[in-house]
Amino acid sequence: MAKTKDESKAESESHLRGHRRPSRPLLSDNQWQEAIRRRSAHVGIIGLGYVGLPLMRTFCGAGFTCLGFDIDQAKVEKLTAGKSYIKHIPSSLIKKVMAEGKFRATSDPKKLRDCDAIVICVPTPLTKMREPDMSYVQSTAHLIADHLQRGQLVVLESTTYPGTTRELVKPILESSGLHAGHDFFLAFSPEREDPGRTDHTTETIPKVVGGMDARSLRIAAALYGAAVHRVVPVSSCEVAEAAKILENVYRCVNIALINELKMLFDRMGIDVWEVVSAASTKPFGFQPFYPGPGLGGHCIPIDPFYLTWKARQFDMSTRFIELAGEINTSMPEYVVQRVAEALNERKKALNGSRILILGLAYKKNVDDIRESPSIELIEMLKERGAKVDYNDPFVPRTPRQREHNLNLISRKLTAATVRAHDCVIIATDHSAYDYEWIVRHSRLVVDTRNATGKVKSGRSKIVKA
Ligand SMILES: NC(=O)c1ccc[n+]([C@@H]2O[C@H](COP(=O)([O-])OP(=O)(O)OC[C@H]3O[C@@H](n4cnc5c(N)ncnc54)[C@H](O)[C@@H]3O)[C@@H](O)[C@H]2O)c1
Repeated sequence: MAKTKDESKAESESHLRGHRRPSRPLLSDNQWQEAIRRRSAHVGIIGLGYVGLPLMRTFCGAGFTCLGFDIDQAKVEKLTAGKSYIKHIPSSLIKKVMAEGKFRATSDPKKLRDCDAIVICVPTPLTKMREPDMSYVQSTAHLIADHLQRGQLVVLESTTYPGTTRELVKPILESSGLHAGHDFFLAFSPEREDPGRTDHTTETIPKVVGGMDARSLRIAAALYGAAVHRVVPVSSCEVAEAAKILENVYRCVNIALINELKMLFDRMGIDVWEVVSAASTKPFGFQPFYPGPGLGGHCIPIDPFYLTWKARQFDMSTRFIELAGEINTSMPEYVVQRVAEALNERKKALNGSRILILGLAYKKNVDDIRESPSIELIEMLKERGAKVDYNDPFVPRTPRQREHNLNLISRKLTAATVRAHDCVIIATDHSAYDYEWIVRHSRLVVDTRNATGKVKSGRSKIVKA
């Protein structure tokens, strides 16, 4: 296709700036649409974790071939051997897409040159000072820049503050000498994965897409449109970035509100779970949120603080987020206090007591322990002299984490184990647990999730927290 004046200008400029001159021809809009229609567009996914692997399943399921790139060699080897390391992605699926030649995993960045689209799904955690840790996104952008080809589409999916794609990713990619919107295309499309959820999948969750320019948006929307049921195009990358942050702030703030009300209602002798259940019968204007032992996971405890950080650049403080963070992070402390009180009523001290934590994962039916309040609970209880064990059917041992190394093994859940502990804390309400059975064999149960709500006998042993 003949180049536009702008394209020729940008091309010659990028040639001057560039340290490398990729030879690949720029695809026209029609060629891109055709490659998507025929499923000949090759999709590269960087970061094969909780987000990247389900995304691979979605693109492969829609008929595309995918290249998965990860710096973690162990993950690449496992996938290449047909093994999954994520509970809800079965190994049979990995074997199938590998056997069909639809997917391969690599840690060789040169292979990214063969991809038409490159989707970034790397972590966006907080630093120790609770500021955005953009190092993963930055190093990924540099890696792509080193191999960027003309005509490629790059999409950032990692959750981040509004402005990241334009202010951080674009300049790094353009250090290749190629120009966004002319030589390559750039978009942001937030991941809305909710591991463990069975009523929605990556395909059925609408995909918000914002482009750096109109053409980037068209191409990115067309690509996702071929793989998911509904694409929601928005006017800019910033709107797409902000939409994702809004979703997570909304959850964080509402969970904090219900956690605060839990403490108040408890003092008033009112069961917060019964209150939420009653309020939920209103057919409009109310969405239920549930209290718990604190926030966990890679998103809700972290992402809102990306916005807090960015707000400072605009001389604003995000007071709702700060307050919600304060309340939510104080929840493990509240649970420990409730445990100490409950033991005290039974003439026992927390110091020296044996405590069994049920559920290490941050939420039910998943194996993800990132930011899990259970870890916090274990550390706080140990600090106060308790002897702590845990059971989690999905977490056989505690892995080494960035800031924790508990080095514990999941205790087998037998009647003798339960009986041997002074207190059982239900920290995660996994469906696999038989709560009737747990209460029957326990001396004291501190329930942070209302998991025992339907348990009929032994209710005097249950304390809600
Ligand atoms: N987990 C969720 O439920 C969820 C939901 C929505 C959005 N997100 C967002 O998606 C992003 C990814 O989260 P995740 O849960 O998949 O993380 P993850 O830790 O499960 O996976 C990230 C992967 O990226 C790899 N990686 C790190 N640096 C890399 C690099 N420079 N090059 C290549 N690979 C690299 C890691 O080895 C890991 O396999 C984050 O921004 C997160 O906030 C996560």
